[in-house]
Amino acid sequence: MAHPEIVLILDFGSQFTQLIARRCRELGVYSEIAPYDAPAGRLSDPAIKALILSGGPQSVYDAGSPKPSPAILGAGKPILGICYGMQWLAHESGGKVEACATSEYGKAFVNFDDNSELFAGVPSGATQVWMSHSDKVTGLPPGYSKIATTGNCPLAGMAAPEKQIYAIQFHPEVAHTLAGKEILGNFLFKIAKLKGGWTAAAFIEEAVAEIRAQVGGGHVLCALSGGVDSAVTALLVHRAIGANLTSIFVDTGLLRLDEGKKVIDRFSGKLHLNLRPVDASDPFFRALKGVTDPEQKRKAIGRLFIETFEMESANLQHVTHLAQGTIYPDRIESAHGSKAATVIKSHHNVGGLPERMNLKLLEPLRDLFKDEVRKVGELLGLEPEFVNRHPFPGPGLAVRILGEVTADKAALLQRADAIYMDEIRRAGLYGEISQAFAVLLPVRTVGVMGDYRTYDSVLALRAVATQDFMTADWYRFPSEFLDTVARRIVNEVKGISRVVYDITSKPPATIEWE
Ligand code: XMP
Repeated sequence: MAHPEIVLILDFGSQFTQLIARRCRELGVYSEIAPYDAPAGRLSDPAIKALILSGGPQSVYDAGSPKPSPAILGAGKPILGICYGMQWLAHESGGKVEACATSEYGKAFVNFDDNSELFAGVPSGATQVWMSHSDKVTGLPPGYSKIATTGNCPLAGMAAPEKQIYAIQFHPEVAHTLAGKEILGNFLFKIAKLKGGWTAAAFIEEAVAEIRAQVGGGHVLCALSGGVDSAVTALLVHRAIGANLTSIFVDTGLLRLDEGKKVIDRFSGKLHLNLRPVDASDPFFRALKGVTDPEQKRKAIGRLFIETFEMESANLQHVTHLAQGTIYPDRIESAHGSKAATVIKSHHNVGGLPERMNLKLLEPLRDLFKDEVRKVGELLGLEPEFVNRHPFPGPGLAVRILGEVTADKAALLQRADAIYMDEIRRAGLYGEISQAFAVLLPVRTVGVMGDYRTYDSVLALRAVATQDFMTADWYRFPSEFLDTVARRIVNEVKGISRVVYDITSKPPATIEWE
């Protein structure tokens, strides 16, 4: 999609870089993230109306610390430097940067220069901000003036207004900086004079026009997994070209209880998609027979998924495009160099098919963050409960049944997992938890029920809270809640005689057990 107005965020490796981009978009300005050393060609794009330099963990004095091209300073585009971004600006422009006597992490109170446009409308007096730094600017570069100060950091902000360059030591993108949104808004609208207007509704309108132009009189194929990204992709393409979209839903038998039926009811029934459901559970269980290694399971599922999809689509005539639910975080090239998300998702993407079938790829959500995908989904008619669901891995229950996967074990796990999710919703905890699920262990233990001894499986419960799924903390349930869930599962699901709760964070453990 051609964006008329882009704020480019140069990423120096801060954990908050994506947050900066999301905050700009919440303010209605389309933003993208680029590596700090983005090529000159990218930076000279006239659609890029302003630059934000992110924070980063390094010191400007570290060997190999990230340094963008100094040419950005003379490009005439407004710049906001944050934390490391400020230190680089100062260092590069002839100011002084020094190590703090002690690093400063957490809340601080800042006094702003009331006359600076960056702080227009922000109440004067000590305002709470969030700091996270080991170096600080101790000498202003020529042409700059001081615009903010804290007890530990006398130069907490500096500006060269005639060059439209501003810099702050604290992080306006985090919620703990109380006036963060106003400060970013001042940079975007008062200093860079952007128009804004980037909203989910505007996105839908533009995306629909673009899909129509791309597809012309062609026919689009989409693999609907039941997850949010592929669902919103299909609905958007459907809004654009209606019956010229065919969605294929492969039920692997490894989904949550009744999920296959719900997908068909929702998309074929309520939302009128042209949906071809394929019940492939038997072939999937056959392919998983005797497979115990987690990566082998993933490979077997990925392979069979593609074969099934290909077989199903072979009957369709005149297909020209394949729609895929790639979203922005899947393709951000960050300073961390992490492409984890792409690897995780790779098997969702119907690998190799576009080339083999000579199909063009359609990725209408490629510029959106997950929360934007959710908003678009709601506007396209998906229920909030659906768009706000916890993530569910592509290989599904296969990686939550440790050891060999069978249809019987999947049925057992589906029932136990449904009870767990039901109790979580009933307790009003679903939204507080980032991901919750049950895991069936290949371990049997002795139990006693009534007058009988049992020798049945152990079920593990997992629930985590996380911002980005790269690190996660285990969720602290009230003990009464765990008691209710364990009782219900052991009483209602024959074959499970013991329930345990996983209290390991990530790292060192991963979220899934396989
Ligand atoms: P881990 O277990 O690596 O999980 O801490 C991080 C997130 O990724 C999901 N996950 C997967 N998603 N295919 C997927 O589509 C996979 O093979 C896969 N493995 C893990 C996991 O559920 C969590 O949200």
